Amino acid sequence: MHIFLIKSLLAVVLLLLSLVNMMTMFEMFGRQERKFDPETLRKVHRLSGTVFFLLSLGIAYICLDFLVKTKAEPSPRSALHAVFSVAVLFLLSLKVLFNRVYRQFYGRLQTMGLILAFVSTAMISSSAGYFLLVSKFGKETPASRTVEQKKDAVQAAGHMAAKTDPASIERGKKVYGSKCTFCHDPFSNKTLTGPGHKGILKNPLLPVSKKAATPENVAHQLRTPYKDMPSFSSLSDDDVQDVIAYLNTL
Ligand code: HEC
Repeated sequence: MHIFLIKSLLAVVLLLLSLVNMMTMFEMFGRQERKFDPETLRKVHRLSGTVFFLLSLGIAYICLDFLVKTKAEPSPRSALHAVFSVAVLFLLSLKVLFNRVYRQFYGRLQTMGLILAFVSTAMISSSAGYFLLVSKFGKETPASRTVEQKKDAVQAAGHMAAKTDPASIERGKKVYGSKCTFCHDPFSNKTLTGPGHKGILKNPLLPVSKKAATPENVAHQLRTPYKDMPSFSSLSDDDVQDVIAYLNTL
């Protein structure tokens, strides 16, 4: 299962827990005549709150791990999502503190609970909601997008896109022939000193670093290589663009 799908399903559980928390609070404080035993409501509220907290930490770990591994610059949407998630963890910690230690603030807890429910919903819909919608509920993972769609997405995000004009490709091929074929085979995935480059920009991830296969990350590899590859910081920006245009055809 794709990691985004797992995360989205966990997020749906999170949404349900936040609903349970809100409803138990409403039942506890909102009715003139209580329908349920307050002690039971309190227990359910506390239990689902604790599970919510632990699950959020788990999901935050998955997100951070993904971010570190791909070294991707967060999109505006993921940045917004990150702000919401920090707000959730912050509000939740405050709520526990006010409930346990700073009891003078106890009266604020209900309002905070409502804000927490709102921020959680915003956090979940800006990520899981979005993902489930665009992936047709997990049927199409981002990795299965076509190269054209990937290129459009990269362009839409204002990032670097590979040039496609024949002159750039031809120039890139020359640079590649003089500087790269010593260690890389352009026509297979066999490893010489470095990995083969067949389909390098068509695969979802780069072969060694496992960063997203984007022109930007290839440019980064040329300037500051992942591990053992020599740096090509002497190549001009135009040369780099041309080499990427050529790699894009492999
Ligand atoms: C002296 C050998 C050598 C030369 C020359 C070389 N590379 Fe590499 N390349 C490597 C090695 C080794 C790796 C594996 C990753 C690493 O150690 O940085 C690699 C990895 C890569 C990767 C994959 C990076 C990743 O994140 O998985 C790309 C793309 C790449 N090289 C492009 C180029 C291009 C373009 C050139 C020519 C301008 C070039 N390399 C020249 C050795 C070389």
